[in-house]
Amino acid sequence: MTEKDFLPGAYQKMPENGKVTWKAPSNIALVKYWGKRPVQIPANPSISFTLDACASTTSVTFEKKEKNDGFSFDLLFEGKPKADFKPKIQTFLERIEMYVPFLKEYYLTIETSNSFPHSSGIASSASGMAALSLCLMDIEKQLNPSLDEDLFNAKASYLARLGSGSACRSIKGNLVQWGAHKNIPKSSDLYGVEYPFEVDAVFQSYCDTILLVHKGQKQVSSTVGHQLMHGHPYAENRFQQAFSNLDKLKPILASGDLKGFITLVESEALTLHAMMMTSMPYFMLMKPDTLEIINKIWQYREATKTPVCFTLDAGANVHLLYPSKEKEKVKGFIQDELAEHCENGQYIYDQVGSGAIKINR
Ligand code: DP6
Repeated sequence: MTEKDFLPGAYQKMPENGKVTWKAPSNIALVKYWGKRPVQIPANPSISFTLDACASTTSVTFEKKEKNDGFSFDLLFEGKPKADFKPKIQTFLERIEMYVPFLKEYYLTIETSNSFPHSSGIASSASGMAALSLCLMDIEKQLNPSLDEDLFNAKASYLARLGSGSACRSIKGNLVQWGAHKNIPKSSDLYGVEYPFEVDAVFQSYCDTILLVHKGQKQVSSTVGHQLMHGHPYAENRFQQAFSNLDKLKPILASGDLKGFITLVESEALTLHAMMMTSMPYFMLMKPDTLEIINKIWQYREATKTPVCFTLDAGANVHLLYPSKEKEKVKGFIQDELAEHCENGQYIYDQVGSGAIKINR
């Protein structure tokens, strides 16, 4: 599909009002997206596990306006007006206007909440932008009932990408790939697709326990972080590495090769942080407890031969990844050894999920 496919035709009807609600999950990248060009085009392809427990639920109430005079919306976060989120939503609506031109015809009330604790350091932009995009597509479907499911999902992902790149991987599927890659059929820079190759059962129920090392505001926003890849001395090699890691991942995922998986995923996480440490200005987003946890994971893996590994996003929190059959054993390890490195002892059990759902209420 190309950008033109996402421009709507004439609307078949225009309801007076209504309300739609969607719940969209967060995701954790295995091969990382870090570096982009306008508008939200990734410098390299990426792939993520869709999560299950960490999710945003968003409702959009829409009411026809007297006159079409720009965007009108209210934004409520966990039941309260949230003025500081409004500019981000305003920019998003402006960016997607030509694809969803009905927006200016309605007064919108956007209500959103997260399943994970407020300011846990978990980015809600992926799940939040995905849930909002699905709500907008749901309204478009009411205006245009012939919209088919493939286009619905691709366009929801396309819109979500324009809100936050990684959000386009939070629509559908347990492993989602984003970014054109010559060896991945239907892959696109414009939206995420369900990973089209064989995936061993072990990866379809993989566990991710998010160890909340630092719950505060991130030191560097992802927007600023991506920009640091422009003129970065190692950027080109890094982008090539991501392309090649997607090739390497194919037989690993198909055969359930945990050793290969661990090596590739940990290397990706450390490379992401190495890019931040070697950009100008430079950043160090790991905290002492991040390193303590990583060392303990390595020691535990060596001593017990349990296939646990870690990945990181652009922050200090650690995602501990392991097969679901190791759950009980790993639970003991987390409680006994890792919890002490988490802020207020907090961590979140999550696992691979299958994507966003519509909530009927
Ligand atoms: C480190 O999707 O948050 O989590 O497109 O600027 O909104 P924007 O960036 P964002 O970047 C995510 C970066 C990452 C890696 C990843 O999820 O692939």
